[in-house]
Amino acid sequence: MAKEEENIGGIDPARTIVGLDIGSSKIGVFIGQLEENNKVRILGFGNPPLKKGDANELEATVQALKKAVGDAELSSGVDVKEVYVGVAGSNIRSVASQASIPLREFNGVVTKEAMKRVVEQASQLVQRPADMDIIHVLPGDYVLDERGGIKNPQGMEGTSLSVEVQLVLAQKGIVRNISKAVEGAELTVKGLVLEPLADACCVLENDEKELGVAIIDIGATSTDVAVFKEDKVVYTVSFDIAGNAITSDIAIGLTTPMDRAEEIKKMYGTCRRSNLLDEVTFTVPGIGGRPGKDCSRKHLAYIIYCRMNEILMKVHDDLKNKGFDGSLGAGIVITGGTSLLEGTQELAEKIFERTPVRLGAPRKPDEGFSEIVCMPTHSTGVGLLYYAALNDQPKERRETRTTKIVGSVGSKLGRIWSMLKNYI
Ligand SMILES: Nc1ncnc2c1ncn2[C@@H]1O[C@H](COP(=O)(O)OP(=O)(O)OP(=O)(O)O)[C@@H](O)[C@H]1O
Ligand SMILES: [Mg+2]
Repeated sequence: MAKEEENIGGIDPARTIVGLDIGSSKIGVFIGQLEENNKVRILGFGNPPLKKGDANELEATVQALKKAVGDAELSSGVDVKEVYVGVAGSNIRSVASQASIPLREFNGVVTKEAMKRVVEQASQLVQRPADMDIIHVLPGDYVLDERGGIKNPQGMEGTSLSVEVQLVLAQKGIVRNISKAVEGAELTVKGLVLEPLADACCVLENDEKELGVAIIDIGATSTDVAVFKEDKVVYTVSFDIAGNAITSDIAIGLTTPMDRAEEIKKMYGTCRRSNLLDEVTFTVPGIGGRPGKDCSRKHLAYIIYCRMNEILMKVHDDLKNKGFDGSLGAGIVITGGTSLLEGTQELAEKIFERTPVRLGAPRKPDEGFSEIVCMPTHSTGVGLLYYAALNDQPKERRETRTTKIVGSVGSKLGRIWSMLKNYI
């Protein structure tokens, strides 16, 4: 590329990063630029819908992905080459492991190499099914001799070093399918990231992660959870049930097509059951030429409440079984598109009892596209940028450039705005 092209509109190709969220209801491609102090400037994005069922069909995913990439390139003026991709769902499993090494070989001093060795050993000790790949190795605190709770023991002296790690495993099939879709759109996977870990990067505050918090992303087909304590990931889990199950209950309960049930959910849906009057009604169109009928909002609320209660109870029971009830000082943060359902916070507060609950969305980006991307449906896509900013330093990226600039940003602004209107 010609040198003069490299800094158009203040964009530095060596510092651009791309997040790809292959959701069940939409594809999200976010392009950002890493600024000083791990800040991220969002340069552009594309977010076309995926029709129900399409997410499992490779060709439909590739087409939607191409559209998302095209929109994101147009809005940023950056040509996408490599992407950080989110993974989630019940094909993912998190397991804990621990290991201990003597420090004799390191002259009794904890070096970076010793820390690396003990983490590697803990990863190798895990009994991993042959059909699963490791996508994250997340070290917890270190123990030096008898002294535990050490975040960074580098330079300290002792005789043995131990660590507990969380390993996130993904089924090889899901990893292959993601690669196929990404390669089908002529892109390369730069890294796979567990979705709630990406969410956490743009939704959670540092002090929440320090105090103890569970982030719950309720999307279209999966509800994904990550628990943080003392700034470390201590547990992750996914359930294959989310907003689409609510839509399908509405379709069955009100005998209406799925797309109409989806509209009704977004327009009249609530999981709040108090203060609803039987008299407040809306019209449900009939199926197969049958006449439409009136339905009370109270009846709709009951259908939604039952399923939302089930989803949140699954998470509650699992966290309780794993011993996290009462120990999450900063409580629960709920994100993902389904968190937009009115009454979600109140219902979660009842279920999680004395635990504080808040709704979460990407915090205002450091620069660019603020309001538009601050939606809970974008937590994963935006979070992937922040994850990449923390984990992929520009020096490394300069050698293997992820993107190149394809044109002037300024000249495209008019088209960008007309395109963005579709997303607001
Ligand atoms: N205003 C709204 N009220 C209620 N539900 C909503 C609203 N907006 C979006 N949803 C629901 O949110 C879900 C989509 O959320 P999101 O975009 O986070 O999912 P996804 O990332 O595509 O799916 P997944 O993460 O499960 O693969 C859909 O079920 C949709 O019906
Ligand atoms: Mg999602």
